Amino acid sequence: MSVTKPNIKPNSPNFSSGPCAKRPGWSIEALSDALTGRSHRSGPGKAKLKEVIDRHRDLLGVPDDYHIGIVPASDTGAFEMAMWSMLGARGVDVFAWEAFSGDWLKDITGQLGIEDVRTFEAEYGALPDLLAADKERDSVFVWNGTTSGVCAPNADWIADDREGLTFCDATSAVFAYDMDWNKLDVTTWSWQKVLGGEAAHGMIVLSPRAVERLESFTPSYGLPKIFRMSKGGKLNKGIFEGATINTPSMIAVEDCLDALKWVESVGGLKGTIARSKENFKAIESWAAKTDWVDFLAQDEDTRSTTSICLKIVDPWFTSQDDETQGAVIGALAKMLDSEGVAYDIKGYRDAPHGLRIWGGATIEAADLKALCPWLDWAYAQAKAQREESVAA
Ligand SMILES: Cc1ncc(COP(=O)(O)O)c(C=O)c1O
Repeated sequence: MSVTKPNIKPNSPNFSSGPCAKRPGWSIEALSDALTGRSHRSGPGKAKLKEVIDRHRDLLGVPDDYHIGIVPASDTGAFEMAMWSMLGARGVDVFAWEAFSGDWLKDITGQLGIEDVRTFEAEYGALPDLLAADKERDSVFVWNGTTSGVCAPNADWIADDREGLTFCDATSAVFAYDMDWNKLDVTTWSWQKVLGGEAAHGMIVLSPRAVERLESFTPSYGLPKIFRMSKGGKLNKGIFEGATINTPSMIAVEDCLDALKWVESVGGLKGTIARSKENFKAIESWAAKTDWVDFLAQDEDTRSTTSICLKIVDPWFTSQDDETQGAVIGALAKMLDSEGVAYDIKGYRDAPHGLRIWGGATIEAADLKALCPWLDWAYAQAKAQREESVAA
């Protein structure tokens, strides 16, 4: 296969799935109003944190009776604090289909010591049977499996009259999908994904029933300070008004505000969803006419518009051993990196060897369109190099 080297490069080579590309036009100047050297508990400090919460509520349409908090340790911190504070009150159904959902499953079965757990797992590329969720039980899942590019196709499988709570790690989905808040009791995400913000802090949204759980249930173990959302059996409301548990980075806060203002400037949630869909389409139309790749997500309805994961279906590639496949993908990624065309596009380390290209709102569709011919070129090069080294 001979492929000519393209001559048009993407304007930005940043296609990482986290931290993700900054919004178009971002520069360090965007942080010039950061409240550096000041207390986050001062009037202006608290106002900045509250603005992050309020802007999220407005942009995402989070219902007024849901609480939104800024918590430590990015999405992981937010999701862990939710699981450790609230799981164990009733049986738990856990859905796992890639690395992060798999991590939550490991925590629930191996660390939290919850006995009544049902697990529903699927291989990379597939989705477990979400319809198996029992409305009497809590359920734990990711909305978008960032490491496999497989997302929940809708929220229809979540019962409106459920007794259990839904725990949704939505980190690479929020701002890319219209989240159905009525179906979600605990939702978490970070600033470093679709917003292209700085990593550091997590967002957590609690439904009224999640608050009820926090106020009525005490886990059998103690909780570290950074996980504690309630005080004396009552929700610690301050956390949900900008009084963070511990010290946040006011630079990261400023960056988040910049990202949220940008979201508004592109038409709010509708705008970011549309941008992500357009990005996905750029890859989809190239993949449709390209015989060496396919989506890792088997079912079209489950293909993520943010973490776009591709597998290599060229029979030459699939007939190679695991090590060779890894080496070919490594060579492809290295070539595009040194050409300044694409950074960080190798599939996740535990996923089948392939590519993972971010399609969240901060990416420009034109850049993805420019990337595609380079992928053809780099794959052809990497394959030829491998064949030559075997022949030599
Ligand atoms: C689905 C999912 N959950 C959790 C995480 C961890 O996020 P963080 O490193 O921001 O805590 C990620 C990061 O990629 C993710 O994609």
